[in-house]
Amino acid sequence: MSEPLVLGIETSCDETAIGIVRGRTLLANEIASSVEEHARFGGVVPEIASRAHLEAILPSIERAVNDAKISLRDLDAISVTAGPGLVGALLVGTASASGLAQGLGIPLYGVNHLAAHVSVDYLTHDLPTDPTIALLVSGGHSSLLRVDDITGSITKLGATMDDAAGEAFDKIARILDLGFPGGPAIDREARNGNPTAIDFPRGLTTSNDWATRPYDFSFSGLKTAVARYIESTPVNVRADVAASFQEAVVDVLLLKALAACKSSGIDSLVIAGGVAANSRLREVATERCAKAGIQLRIPNPGLCTDNGAMVAALGSLMVSAGRPATKGAFDADSSLPVERVALA
Ligand code: KG4
Ligand code: ZN
Repeated sequence: MSEPLVLGIETSCDETAIGIVRGRTLLANEIASSVEEHARFGGVVPEIASRAHLEAILPSIERAVNDAKISLRDLDAISVTAGPGLVGALLVGTASASGLAQGLGIPLYGVNHLAAHVSVDYLTHDLPTDPTIALLVSGGHSSLLRVDDITGSITKLGATMDDAAGEAFDKIARILDLGFPGGPAIDREARNGNPTAIDFPRGLTTSNDWATRPYDFSFSGLKTAVARYIESTPVNVRADVAASFQEAVVDVLLLKALAACKSSGIDSLVIAGGVAANSRLREVATERCAKAGIQLRIPNPGLCTDNGAMVAALGSLMVSAGRPATKGAFDADSSLPVERVALA
């Protein structure tokens, strides 16, 4: 089927998100977020997220179907995030999706949230000539991937050894009193600061690291360095700290992503996940990729953070590639590895 009509359901964290695509055309992208209910706790509270998903999911599906001007009966398939994520939150999505798919008598795809982040780029850019390198940077994960086929062949080249990039943004924002979620807040604050004011460490970039784990990341040393700097500097300039911290993260992410392109001989890079919305990451990536002759693809900022369009996009690609649907009733897998694009 070349232009399948697919509804995607995403409930892995604090967004109840529904996307509808026809082939690679986005028809609806409905997002209900419970982020404000979590803000006073400084992070996502799983029980609150699950309850919010239960309340939001049916009205969100209804709104998306109305936006797309389709009827549920027109759908060719449903896809749903099966993992990784918060198990209680995921279950709201998978239970709703299987009920809907069974009721409509259409195939259901239980797909990987991380692969979905990468696949959303296929909606806005021409199909990348596989293989491509993908830098996946979200609140829960940071990895460098080699994608030979987004519907079935993803190899992990490296990953963070401690915090995810988004998690580092969130933690530093808390130290700087910038609120939650921290990524967008640091992005804004950094615009008033000097990115070269403070030379914060770039994790895992010694010559030994390049020899032994070139594509892994570590942000814990950077986090400690920022905390120490703030404690020991009486008049610290918050904007300079935010800008210099952001610069260190952006620098190390791109150093490693471009090194992966170079050593694999792949001149295509996709950057995906919530942190890909970062304006400085987008800017520096554009400059460095142009210089290195690497074709860069980053989804629009609104499609970088969690959304349903990405889940629908991956579902649509699975259908078009003739991949088999997920069989029978299936459980969510809170720690689904990135190499498993979909459940069998
Ligand atoms: O992909 P995502 O929406 O959810 C997960 O799958 O985790 O990523 C959320 C993460 C959060 O840590 C958030 O602070 C970060 O993405 N983020 C950003 C920006 N927007 C969101 N980080 C840096 N700059 C941004 N503009
Ligand atoms: Zn995500």
